[in-house]
Order: sequence, then structure tokens, then C-alpha cells
Amino acid sequence: MGNEERGQWSSKIGFILAGAGAAVGLGNIWRFPYITGENGGAAFVIIYLLFVVFLGVPCMIAELALGRRTKLNAVGAFKQIRNKPLWIFAGFFGIITSLGILSFYGVIAGWTFGYIFKMLLGEGFGYQAFVTNPIFEIGLYAIFLIFTAAIVYGGVEKGIEKWAKILMPMLFVLMLGLIIYANTLEGSYKGIEFYLSPDFSKLTPKAILSAVGQAFFSLSLGMGMMITYGSYLSKKENILTSSLSIALLDTVIAIMAGFIIFPALFAMGENPAAGPSLVFVVLPKLFLNMPAGSFIGALFFVLLSIAALTSTISMLEVPVSYFVDEKKFSRKKIVWAVTLFTFIIGIPSALSQGAVDYFTYFGLLPSELSAPDFLSHMSFAFGDFAIVIGSLLLSIFVGWVWGAKNASAEVAEGSQFFSRIKGLWQFSIKFITPIVIIIILLSVFKII
Ligand code: TRP
Repeated sequence: MGNEERGQWSSKIGFILAGAGAAVGLGNIWRFPYITGENGGAAFVIIYLLFVVFLGVPCMIAELALGRRTKLNAVGAFKQIRNKPLWIFAGFFGIITSLGILSFYGVIAGWTFGYIFKMLLGEGFGYQAFVTNPIFEIGLYAIFLIFTAAIVYGGVEKGIEKWAKILMPMLFVLMLGLIIYANTLEGSYKGIEFYLSPDFSKLTPKAILSAVGQAFFSLSLGMGMMITYGSYLSKKENILTSSLSIALLDTVIAIMAGFIIFPALFAMGENPAAGPSLVFVVLPKLFLNMPAGSFIGALFFVLLSIAALTSTISMLEVPVSYFVDEKKFSRKKIVWAVTLFTFIIGIPSALSQGAVDYFTYFGLLPSELSAPDFLSHMSFAFGDFAIVIGSLLLSIFVGWVWGAKNASAEVAEGSQFFSRIKGLWQFSIKFITPIVIIIILLSVFKII
């Protein structure tokens, strides 16, 4: 299978940063606040945190173990362990999901990139004018995909690790500063109340599905990405501590984003349930009020673009490594082919924020599940539903088909401590994860 030619992470910290770079992205800073806002705040956050700990971390361990054991892409990994149509399908499902996610995520990433210039040039035009302009939407989306492809083209080791090491800490520091600033605004305490004092009556079955979807989305699970990244991991590395570190970093950044957005939003009298526009409306207003705001705003969107880029890279890597391993395509050719294909399927999302009415009021899914625009449909279908199904298939596969015991042996290599908690992990992957997911799905579709 050409394993000798596979790249490998150059160091432990390199892997953790690449993994955290994939996990930390628009999911934390754009998606987490708006989904929390739509689902009523604090109670949603608590459920989300429980899912991260009890389902997310065990699934991340499972994906990394499967990848490292087989040293293969998402499809190959399933196939090597059980060559049956259902499991090959499970792998393919991940490839399709990654393209689906990349297609709408790339559009939002294009916005972040565009906002760098919008901040520098001043508020010449508002959010609405920006997102309804088809040239901006398609152009920025295309530019972002080209950046992504150019890095994936060079392979995993070069580039990604080096950038992540400098820029992620910078984003963290800037966010700390913004938390302090936002919380000194008048009326900001109402945002803290919304964010921290739970009202459990707001938890509908859809809110719970969004919480589990967001937990998997933010941790980059359910589409074989961690399988793929695990395949570049050496046996010496510790899967347990790597998963915990990635999950912790990812969760801290999401929670921090909430501590910026909600105080700022309430101080400025905006609506927390505004949907995908939330961050792009509230943050520029926040920057506008502060000294050197256009510079700080531009810097923020530079760092957010980089965070998005380390995530889009990881999404593109999933189909690319599949074609390289299984179909023996050259990496260089397939990167551009997959990018072009993704670009095309993302066009409706790019035009769905007002540029084209048909995509703006698409309304195929019932309104309890998704807002009418095409992008929200993609975000629900791929960013919630498909990755939850993907995680269900993965947990059944690792827990029952490969076998939780076999998988534990893989995790234990490189982590002595794991043997002490392996019973807990096995229980979670065999029972808790699949059962919780099935119950949530049944209740969303009103079967129970
Ligand atoms: N986790 C990333 C974010 O929060 C998005 C992402 C990257 C992702 N790779 C993924 C989501 C794989 C699901 C699956 O921005």
C-alpha cells in the first residue's frame, strides 16, 4: 500500500498542533456562538460540554487508533479490518461528508478572508451588501479553496505545523484581550447571564442533536479526518494524551469565543439568535468602537482565516489521501481535481445569502431542522446529521467489529496509563456513544 512513502508528523507537539489546528476553526468562533445563541444559551452549552467529554473524546481516541493501526485513509482503514460493503460504505460516507462540509465551510472561510480587507478599508458597506454580492461570494470562496489546495499539494508535514505553532498562540492572546474588552462594555452582564445561567426548558430534541453535532464538528470527528491524521502518527505517540489535549484546546477556544460574543452582543442590543451572520455582524461593531479598531479587527480576521485554513486543509486531506492510497493517483493531480469538484458543489451555498433567491429560500428541510437558505441546509445535513451518523458507524465498527479490546491494545502502545482506564473507554465506545446517538436521532425524527 505504499506505506513507506506516507508522511509522518515530525514531532509530538507537531501532531497535537496540527490536530488542534484542524479542530480549532470557524466551528469554534463562528458556529459555536451562533448555534448556542439559536438554542437558548447556557443549557445548550452544558449539554455540549457533556457530549465533548463522554462521546467526543472516546470517538477521537477510536479514530486515531484506527488510523494509526492501519496506516490508511478513511476508506482503506475500514476495508483493511473488515472488507464488507457496509464498512466500505462507512468510509465513503466520510469522504462525501468531508466534501459536503468543505463546500459550505469554504464559503464562510472566504468571508473571514474578505473581512480582513473590509476592516482595513472601514465600514464602506455592511454585512448584507457583502454577502449578497455574488462576485465577492464566489471570488473569496475560490481564493480560499486555492490556498487550501496549495498547502495540501505539498503534503502534510511541510507548512501546516510550522504556521500553526506561531499563529494559534497569537489568536489565543488576542481573544483574551477581546474578552476583557467586551466584558467592560455597559450591559455586557446580560450576555454573561444568557451564556451561564441555564434554562433547561429550551432544550428541544433538535437542540440536543445540534449539541452533539457541534461537539463532533468542533472536534473534527465523524468523517474520517482523525483516521487520516492518525495514519501519519508514529507508534511512540500517546493517543490518549493527544486526544485530551486537542479536545481541551478546542473546547477552551469555543468557550472563550462565547465570552467575547455574548457580552458584546447584549451590550450592543443585537439578537443572539441571528444565525450564521452573528459573528460577522457583532464583532466588526465591537472593533469599530475600540481604539485602533480597524487594525485589531483586521488582525483578528487574519488569525481566524489561518484557523479556518488549518481546518479546510484537514478536510481536503481526507479525499486526497483516499485517492492517493486506494486509486494510486498522484497527489498533485488529485488535489486540484477534488478542489474543483468541491468548488462547484459549494456555489449554491455561496449564493444562498441573498445573491440568488432560489438558494436563499431553498427550504427543502422542515423549518425546525434548518433555516431556509442552502448554506444552512448543508450545515445541518453534513455538519450535524452526517457526522453524527458517521460517528455512530465508527463507534459500532471500533467497538464491535474491530473489537474494543483490539482497539485498546493499539491505544495502549505509547500510553501506559491507558490500561487503567481502558474499561471506561471500551464501555463508552461500545455502548454509550451508539446508544446516545440512536436515541437522539429517533427523537429528532419523532420516532420516540
Ligand atoms: N473542527 C473544525 C472547526 O471547528 C472543522 C473541521 C475540520 C471538521 N475538519 C473536520 C469538522 C472534520 C468535521 C469533520 O472549524
